Amino acid sequence: MSSAHAISAATRLTEHVAKLADEHPPIPLESVDFTVRDPRAFDERFGHVLDYMARVELEVDRNVLELTTMLPDPPEVDRQFYAVWQPQEIHHGKILDEVQVQLGREPADADLDSIGLKLRILGALAHIGAFQDVCRMLYYLTGMATERSAVLAYNLLHRGMLDMGENAIAHTVIGQIKRQEPGHYVFYQLSARALWHELSGWQRWLVRFMRKASFAPVGANNPSQKADFGDVMATLGIGEDSDDFAAQISRVEKELLWARHRGLKVPEYVSRAFHEAAQLARDRAHLPHLHR
Ligand SMILES: [Fe+2]
Ligand SMILES: [Fe+2]
Repeated sequence: MSSAHAISAATRLTEHVAKLADEHPPIPLESVDFTVRDPRAFDERFGHVLDYMARVELEVDRNVLELTTMLPDPPEVDRQFYAVWQPQEIHHGKILDEVQVQLGREPADADLDSIGLKLRILGALAHIGAFQDVCRMLYYLTGMATERSAVLAYNLLHRGMLDMGENAIAHTVIGQIKRQEPGHYVFYQLSARALWHELSGWQRWLVRFMRKASFAPVGANNPSQKADFGDVMATLGIGEDSDDFAAQISRVEKELLWARHRGLKVPEYVSRAFHEAAQLARDRAHLPHLHR
């Protein structure tokens, strides 16, 4: 990338973050109408989805810890973004959790502070600048897939709740949340595109290698969470055609990392992860004692 390009990408990012801060303050709890028409049917259908989403949103606190471990020296605009993004996501999590608690469910069991050994090692290596850029690229790729998943999932959830006639939650909870997710996606996409063009051959190779080895659907870090994700997919109607969903969340990743593989619909590790989640959910439904 020429330096003129790099400067304009940086300016766009800074403007974008300022706009997010300006137009999307964290959603106030008082703005939510928690009225549910048929709590039992609502819980039966969407309770587990609310729980999954609440957990993922609240775990943003851990993501920020991971970030500071993995990226000891982030660009200034990234710092500004965390400061805007984290409170937005935490409010999403608190509101979704409150909805499920009001339905009589347990609050989400969010892991807010455990940082795995792998990340600590990456963090140690990241003090080498060239390696930190590899970590940063992986972080942007994860951010893109996560935020795009959120956009699509909240759209489906919104529609499903309206279909049930649960208009209060659909409008004041999911409707408000889903308006904040596309801006997050844009941040990661702009960042990923700009950084990819600055990486050298070996850095790109390492990004591809590590991405293949580490990809997981958002919030699915162990077999039981993967099965939970599979259940969420089934409820939202993406279980049957997960390749389509997988293609949408990995479109830009495919374009950047796998440009030479023409005709590829979805990176193989992405579609495999979704099929695995769907399969684990089916297995658990048939053999619940094995997994609970
Ligand atoms: Fe969110
Ligand atoms: Fe988000």
